[in-house]
Amino acid sequence: MTATVLILNGPNLNLLGEREPEIYGRESLTDIEAACRAKADELGLSVEFRQSNSEAEMVNLIQEARKAAGIIVNAGALSHTSIAILDALLAAQAPVIEVHLSNIYRREEFRRRSYVSQGATGVICGLGSQGYLLALEAVAKLRQAKG
Ligand code: DQA
Repeated sequence: MTATVLILNGPNLNLLGEREPEIYGRESLTDIEAACRAKADELGLSVEFRQSNSEAEMVNLIQEARKAAGIIVNAGALSHTSIAILDALLAAQAPVIEVHLSNIYRREEFRRRSYVSQGATGVICGLGSQGYLLALEAVAKLRQAKG
């Protein structure tokens, strides 16, 4: 059975491509999903790609994936506010890679703190959609290192 990685996208990421394209790029979430599926194929991983505008649903999805091969999470604005998402990630056994399309450290003060980072194995931000592909590579390498 192929190892599954949850790629979880939070609030407003369903609007990618239309939403502030100068910050988040012109690719839609569907484009990013397709690129992730192609990269996962190369790496011998399978992907569950989800988006939710609801904090509760995100917590449930993280709980369900706690024994997955990895969790890649762009929690959107909930990164900066949600202790519930942090706690769910801390309960996960899977490696967690936090991704942001934009460089949150070059933006408003309130975006510079992410609760998610405290539950993450690694953080990738500012590289646009490429961040998701790098995160998949990181999950694959972490799995190899674990043996
Ligand atoms: C984001 C950055 C967040 O601050 C913002 O609320 C988002 C997207 C990013 O991918 O750059 O919704 O997570």
